[in-house]
Amino acid sequence: MKHERLVAGLDIGSARTTALIAEVVGELPKRPGIRVLGVGQAPTTGMKKGIVANIDETARSIQRALADAQRMAGALPESAFVGIAGEHVQAMTSKGIVAVAGDEISRADVERVNAVARAHAIPQDRELLHAIPQEYTVDRTGGIQDPIGMTGMRLETEMYLVTIGAQPATNLRKSVERAGLKVRELVLEPLASALAVLSEDEKDMGVALVELGAAATDVAVFHEGKIRHLATVPFGGAHVTNDLVHGVGVTQSDAESLKEHYGMALETMVDPTEVIELPPSGAHAERQIPRELLAHIIHQRLDEIFDLVQRGIEGAGYGGRLSGGFVLTGGGAVMPGVADLAADVFGVSVRLGTPRDLVGGLRETVDSPREMTAAGLALYGASRLALGGAAGAAAGKRIALPAPGVDKWAQRLKLWLQDFF
Ligand SMILES: Nc1ncnc2c1ncn2[C@@H]1O[C@H](COP(=O)(O)OP(=O)(O)OP(=O)(O)O)[C@@H](O)[C@H]1O
Ligand SMILES: [Mg+2]
Repeated sequence: MKHERLVAGLDIGSARTTALIAEVVGELPKRPGIRVLGVGQAPTTGMKKGIVANIDETARSIQRALADAQRMAGALPESAFVGIAGEHVQAMTSKGIVAVAGDEISRADVERVNAVARAHAIPQDRELLHAIPQEYTVDRTGGIQDPIGMTGMRLETEMYLVTIGAQPATNLRKSVERAGLKVRELVLEPLASALAVLSEDEKDMGVALVELGAAATDVAVFHEGKIRHLATVPFGGAHVTNDLVHGVGVTQSDAESLKEHYGMALETMVDPTEVIELPPSGAHAERQIPRELLAHIIHQRLDEIFDLVQRGIEGAGYGGRLSGGFVLTGGGAVMPGVADLAADVFGVSVRLGTPRDLVGGLRETVDSPREMTAAGLALYGASRLALGGAAGAAAGKRIALPAPGVDKWAQRLKLWLQDFF
């Protein structure tokens, strides 16, 4: 297979690293999809609170995951699309205004106004990660998605800017490079997951993606087709496990395994007479606890997490406006009952995030809500490659595009890609 058709997504989570190698397929360049060729996973060591705390350790986890993915795929691209998340992520809205050059608004006007909005001063210790146009205003008429060809004198844009801490970004890049791979682009993890699971209809109606990771819970709210709000709640599956350590009196690894084998997110789902044998530890011989106790502890923590998510969404002005419901991804979403609990708290429909029809190949390897970040990163990469390479991409080569009018296609797609989220 041609090397330039390959794409790699790398999700370096605080609990687990997932590498996914795929072939770019589908209707190129309009609607690229991926055919999954290989997936590799390894426990992450070296991350703390979602950021790299030890470059060598993190690189080792990446290497392990990559080696497995490569073995399965029989190939490895030179570079990867790498996820980033954490409390250092910030988002803001920025406006730009320009005078329209001719009678009609042209592509050049749109590019100019976007450049103005993007030119927001970014402090030295931060990097601009994504600049996503939200809507345009022509003279006094707002809410315009595509102003090209309209008549007006003044063009305004509203841009959603996502920035990240420069140091966490540098350490992440170093870890990937030390594992022998180039970083093609960094992508915000919940936005990548959203690409893999959310439908256009859901984004139009209003939907929240809630990613239950180990260190944190990430939230991305879409409304009228666009990303509107990003937030991180600093609690996740690791906190649930920790609560079990203290609440039940077991080791970290026993708590993790109890959670994964017997955990339920809703107490009411558990038979109150059911008991679980605890593994013997230290002074304790064998012990039993009611399964209900396990569920009670898990329920309390998840309830708190969902409550914080809900408050954040209300604070951002999207409470009661998400008729597309909520979609759960991340390892925490695998727990039985979690969607029911979330539906109780959010008061709307909640579903688990599984891959959209753009994901094919060894689909069963990415069928769990836990793999959606890696799948989304590869999908994002597929669109980038279909464009013939992002600006500044180190290892980028063009993949085969329809011969005539390539530049026109690429230009149209570039605009579309900015609208990707
Ligand atoms: N079957 C399961 N039941 C309950 N929880 C689970 C299950 N499988 C995984 N988890 C939990 O999911 C969490 C890991 O999820 P995930 O792999 O999405 O996190 P991560 O991407 O490594 O972390 P982060 O995104 O926070 O950096 C862990 O806390 C783990 O305990
Ligand atoms: Mg994650």
